[in-house]
Amino acid sequence: MTILVTGGAGFIGGNFVLDWLAESDETVVNVDKLTYAGNLETLKSVQENTAHIFVKADIGDREAIGRLLQEHQPRAVVNFAAESHVDRSIDGPGDFIQTNVVGTFNLLESVRGYWGSLSDDARAGFRFLHVSTDEVYGTLGPKDDAFKESNPYEPNSPYSASKAASDHLVRAWHHTYGLPVLTTNCSNNYGPYHFPEKLIPLVILNAIAGKQLPIYGDGQQVRDWLYVKDHCSAIRAVLQGGRLGETYNVGGWNEKPNLDVVKAICAILDELKPRADGKSYADQITFVKDRPGHDRRYAIDARKLEKELGWKPAQTFETGIRKTVEWYLDNTEWTSNVQSGAYLQWVEKNYADRDQ
Ligand code: NAD
Ligand code: TYD
Repeated sequence: MTILVTGGAGFIGGNFVLDWLAESDETVVNVDKLTYAGNLETLKSVQENTAHIFVKADIGDREAIGRLLQEHQPRAVVNFAAESHVDRSIDGPGDFIQTNVVGTFNLLESVRGYWGSLSDDARAGFRFLHVSTDEVYGTLGPKDDAFKESNPYEPNSPYSASKAASDHLVRAWHHTYGLPVLTTNCSNNYGPYHFPEKLIPLVILNAIAGKQLPIYGDGQQVRDWLYVKDHCSAIRAVLQGGRLGETYNVGGWNEKPNLDVVKAICAILDELKPRADGKSYADQITFVKDRPGHDRRYAIDARKLEKELGWKPAQTFETGIRKTVEWYLDNTEWTSNVQSGAYLQWVEKNYADRDQ
């Protein structure tokens, strides 16, 4: 048996592929365009593994994807491929529309063609799992209930709007064509192999480099953090037992204001790698100009997934964030490679006019 994963050289897709190969004998065909966010270094440990087949391709390339599907005959497709960074979507939304909307549409059409060519048994067993985000639900007030699957979609950023559009396409391909789809909407992930344009890896690496730790606005925006391996186990559970056409919210009940997250990282670093001058890394915290349209609070109600499929996260925020800081301290080869020329240009551009 084989599964095909898209975006498996990125943060979550990479962790998913590594976990999958560690836990099963089933072959993974890993299709990734290798944008700035795709990193083959993440997959170094499975380079020689014959159960891992990496192919550089765009999900929007129907010919290439159609050929791969016919060649490998996967029993499932798991779609991680996307442009994923909110700040980049504000700076240049075009790539987000192209990959997240048009790319998902083309992928759905390729998969529909392949699915239609299968035998009755294979058609019945086939699954298309679309990996999405809680950001499609918009923003919450301080006292609002956490997002349920029944919440209306109210996306506020070009990123979340493009993901919302892709979720709607996936839903429509189920209702109209009967494609056997599943969708997961997960909260913010953190953990190993996270590209340091996102808050947690950025803060860890800036801290040890003696740089400022930039907090947008007042730092009281709340995110619901989930350790990436727990997201991967949730996706495996939904792939195995999810009801067709359903969406499942994934989250760890770990709501934290950004400032508290950054202080927690500083406290762990103070213990594991104290600053030479004896001061706390928290002294490097700097409040900078806010992100336009910044969503104030996300929170996930994951009870449907827990109840129907018995999924539970293995990590609390405290255990997960410690593992993450340790991973970044232990994997300096990976971190120095990703902080290359193109990365430095992005940092320069994103933080240039934020001084307050
Ligand atoms: P990422 O940016 O780290 O990785 C995305 C991967 O997709 C990269 O390897 C990139 O090369 C690849 N890619 C981009 N465009 C492509 C295309 N047109 N064709 C093929 N490959 C392409 O993103 P991530 O954080 O790993 O997120 C993975 C998925 O999970 C995304 O769909 C994202 O919306 C969703 N998600 C992310 C989070 C989070 O906190 N990071 C939370 C919930 C959901
Ligand atoms: P991020 O990791 O970009 O994820 P998302 O925008 O998808 O939630 O940001 C997480 C939170 O951290 C978000 O509220 C924005 C904030 N943030 C900062 O305060 N400073 C930064 O330098 C970055 C990158 C993010």
